[in-house]
Amino acid sequence: MPFNRPRFVTGRILRNEGRGEIFYRIEATIPEPVRFVPGQFAMVSGWPGNDPLLPRPLAVFRAGGTRGKGKVEFVYKVVGRGTALLSGLHPGETLSITLPLGRGFDLDREGRTYWLVGGGVGFSSVFPAAVVLGRRRAAFEMFLGARTREHLPPREWTPGGKTPGTIHFCTEDGTAGFHGRVTDAVLERLRRLSPESASRMTILACGPREMLREIAAAAAERSVSAQVALENHMACGFGVCWGCVVSLWDGDRTAYRRVCREGPVFDAREVVW
Ligand SMILES: Cc1cc2nc3c(=O)[nH]c(=O)nc-3n(C[C@H](O)[C@H](O)[C@H](O)COP(=O)(O)OP(=O)(O)OC[C@H]3O[C@@H](n4cnc5c(N)ncnc54)[C@H](O)[C@@H]3O)c2cc1C
Ligand code: FES
Repeated sequence: MPFNRPRFVTGRILRNEGRGEIFYRIEATIPEPVRFVPGQFAMVSGWPGNDPLLPRPLAVFRAGGTRGKGKVEFVYKVVGRGTALLSGLHPGETLSITLPLGRGFDLDREGRTYWLVGGGVGFSSVFPAAVVLGRRRAAFEMFLGARTREHLPPREWTPGGKTPGTIHFCTEDGTAGFHGRVTDAVLERLRRLSPESASRMTILACGPREMLREIAAAAAERSVSAQVALENHMACGFGVCWGCVVSLWDGDRTAYRRVCREGPVFDAREVVW
């Protein structure tokens, strides 16, 4: 039986490949298969020594395995020391992983149409949702945004299958797909939605906070439900240090919630933007 509660495991790296030094994909074997909800994440480290001290949160990109052996994959962008050190690891080396953590996307609503929105490396949280929706033959479209064509996720990482959904690529410099920000593409489509379609629609989004804020505002204006995966800085990753809190509306007051425990996925209307 795959495990689905947080567990610390030692992985062995199978591959760690870079794509134009923009994104890396790291795949490791783990002692047992793991089951995760799209949007859930892992705390990952593997560099020698204690500097940096803390593991880094990464969305679970894929996971599987058979006969008692598991596999897990992450995609990441190098932004600082932790991710730079990760990018230098080689096949055969070990990876320390705690997973699956947090609360993922709620995909269990019947008869809905989904729009999946990924800005930058945010595709790593929405692709697993596309896989689940594709398997269920649910209706969905995906909007992927990046600065340039080179910053879009490679085609071979994009979920396929029998019902891959429609994918809209958006680049800020116009080198592929829609010329402009992914937010502009989504907002334009939202404006054209009939009230009836809007009432059946759910947006799932992950990306820079400003992108999520704009999508949340536009979705609220059209009464479209939206779930956002937040990427706050984290320390422990499992709810103890309160280092990752975000302000949420609780009635007409605000309250702190932990992104690693109550999130990272939240109802967009609850977030104090
Ligand atoms: C739940 C969750 C899932 C995530 N999933 C992924 C993923 O699948 N792929 C991926 O590439 N990244 C993901 N991230 C972001 C990733 O954790 C950070 O990029 C990483 O921790 C940076 O570590 P570092 O040591 O390389 O950089 P640091 O040295 O810690 O930081 C380098 C620079 O990036 C900024 N920075 C670091 N983390 C964040 C952040 N979370 N938000 C905004 N700015 C930040 C710092 O302020 C600094 O300027 C996720 C974050 C969370 C919370
Ligand atoms: S990172 Fe420690 S409580 Fe969230």
